Amino acid sequence: MRMINWKDGTITTPDQTKLPLQEVTLEIKTVEQMAEAIKTLRIRGAPLLGAAAGFGVAIAAYNSKANTPTQLIADLEAAGTLIKNQRPTAVNLFWGVDRVLNKAKSLKGTIEELRNAVILEAQLIADEDVAQNHAIGKIGSVLIADGDTILTHCNAGELATVEYGTALGVIRAASEAGKKINVIANETRPLLQGARLTTYELKRDGIPVTLITDNMTAHVMSKGLVDKVIVGADRIVQNAVFNKIGTYGVAVLAHEHNIPFYVAAPKSTFDLTSKADDILIEERNPQEVTHIGCQQTAPEGINVYNPAFDATPLKYVSGIICETQIYYPPDYPTFRQGKI
Ligand code: MRU
Repeated sequence: MRMINWKDGTITTPDQTKLPLQEVTLEIKTVEQMAEAIKTLRIRGAPLLGAAAGFGVAIAAYNSKANTPTQLIADLEAAGTLIKNQRPTAVNLFWGVDRVLNKAKSLKGTIEELRNAVILEAQLIADEDVAQNHAIGKIGSVLIADGDTILTHCNAGELATVEYGTALGVIRAASEAGKKINVIANETRPLLQGARLTTYELKRDGIPVTLITDNMTAHVMSKGLVDKVIVGADRIVQNAVFNKIGTYGVAVLAHEHNIPFYVAAPKSTFDLTSKADDILIEERNPQEVTHIGCQQTAPEGINVYNPAFDATPLKYVSGIICETQIYYPPDYPTFRQGKI
C-alpha cells in the first residue's frame, strides 16, 4: 500500500503518531503543514522523508502565486529551506528537496512547465522508492534462511518508505519466497516505532513477530534466539551508519554474539562526502523521555538527553543491502573515496 499520495495539490498519508490505535489519514495542502508533519513524525523514516520532501516542494509549486519563473524558483527555495530545517539527520530529506529544486533550476520554460516538472519529479521520487524497496527485498532475501529469527530496531518498514520497506522489505521478500521467518521487534524507546509500527505492519501481513523492550536485546541474543539483525538507515557516511538511537548498541551486541548485522537502505541514504563526526544528530523534546505517552514517569525538571539517532561504526556491519547489490566489509574502504 502506498504511504504517500499526491492528487491535485493535496498529499495524503497515514498519521503515524496515531498508529496502531487509530488509522487516521492526514491531508497536507501547504508547505507549513508538511513541515509540521515531518517535525512531529506524523511522516517519518528516511525514504518516506525523501518522498515527502519532494512533494513538499511540489506543494509550493502548486500553490505559488509567482508571476515569473525566477519568482517561482524563489518560492521553491523557501519551501525547501523550511522542509530541510525540520530534521537534520536523515539525508533523504535534503536529497529529496535538492533533487526537485535542481530539476526546476535546470529547466528553461514557462511557470506552468516548471510547475508540472516539479510535480512530476516528486512523483518520480516516490515511484522509484517503491521499485528500489522491492529490489532491496529481492537482493537481501538471499541472506535469509528458512526458519530464521530476525531482530530489528525501530521501523524500517512500509511505513518508513513509500511502499514495502527496506529492512522489513527484505523480511517480506523472504517470507513471500516461502521462507518461514520470525521477527523480534525492539520497542525502540522513546517514541516506540518498533512497538507501535513494526509490530502493526508485520501483524497485518501475517509475519510472526515478538515484541521485546530494548533492554532485553542482550538477553535474547545470549539465549541463541536471534539468527540475524536487519535494520534500516537514515544516513550512511564514509565510516558509519546512522540509524535510530539504540542501533549502535544492537550492533555491538550482535558482534559479541557472532550474529550477522545487516543494514538495508537505498542509495539515496548514502552520503559519502561526510564522516560520522560531520553529522548533526537530532535532539528531541525532553518530554519524550520524561513521559510515556501522556504519563509523566520522571521527576519534574529533571535533566534529559534525548538524541534521536546514533552512529554504528562500519566494523560492526556485516553487509549493506541496497537496490543494486550487497556491499560487504571489503567494499567499505571505497566509501572513503566517496564511491559506491
Ligand atoms: O525518527 P524516525 O522514526 O524517522 O527514525 C527512523 C529510523 O531510524 C529508521 O530506521 C530509518 O529511517 C530507516 S527507514 C527505512
